[in-house]
Amino acid sequence: MKIIMLGAPGAGKGTRASLMAEHYGIPHISTGDIFRANLKAGTDLGLEAKKYMDTGALVPDDLTVKILLDRVSQEDCQDGYVLDGFPRTINQAEVLEAELKKLNDKIDFAIDVDVSDDVIEARMSGRRVCVKCSATYHIEYAPTKVEGVCDKCDGETILRADDAPETVRQRLKVYHEQTQPLIDFYKERGILRMVSGSGSITDALAAVITILEQG
Ligand code: AP5
Ligand code: MG
Ligand code: ZN
Repeated sequence: MKIIMLGAPGAGKGTRASLMAEHYGIPHISTGDIFRANLKAGTDLGLEAKKYMDTGALVPDDLTVKILLDRVSQEDCQDGYVLDGFPRTINQAEVLEAELKKLNDKIDFAIDVDVSDDVIEARMSGRRVCVKCSATYHIEYAPTKVEGVCDKCDGETILRADDAPETVRQRLKVYHEQTQPLIDFYKERGILRMVSGSGSITDALAAVITILEQG
């Protein structure tokens, strides 16, 4: 099963991707998490990506595509994966499609997590992420058992650098201009499925599974 999660920043792509990956036993691949892990490790890639991420812009396609294609060619991706935050431009989607075609393969579903921009701005200020394992929480909707400490690995949970309100607004603008056109791209291929991003987190996994099982 090869799945793409589409949706605006803060729609809940990561939250759902992580639940689905666990349910199906396949990797959850977030290009944003890969960039943040590189930044934390101080690699050249991380420092380069930071220049764009901090302003809410997209990291250039050539860099992003290479990272993603390397990742999906690894052994643990043989039985599928959930992509979260990739593709984000028509060009990225076309390259992914062409590369998979060479292997006689394709994406099974693109799931669009749909929420309005005003819900998003409110959600981002309450989000906390683990510095060690990238697990995502929300101070109100999905709190950690102990404040500031990750339930999964005891790492520290912090506000993300790009979750400042001005940066969130810029990320939403970039989303509408460059990423939203992917909804039609996957609709044309007959693999687009929509889920509401406004339902409760507890029901999120069941909602996605129902849609996928309907085919
Ligand atoms: P990335 O890390 O992908 O960020 P994003 O797309 O902006 O999305 P987020 O991670 O902010 O939101 P999400 O949809 O995962 O929501 P979440 O589940 O956390 O990318 C960051 C940057 O990296 C980009 O801006 C760009 O610079 C660069 N980049 C990455 N990929 C790239 C690419 N392919 N090309 C170019 N550049 C790239 O949920 C949000 C919050 O809401 C959480 O606190 C969660 O607990 C809560 N929540 C979720 N669902 C619900 C619900 N149903 N009810 C209540 N609360 C909820
Ligand atoms: Mg995310
Ligand atoms: Zn953790």
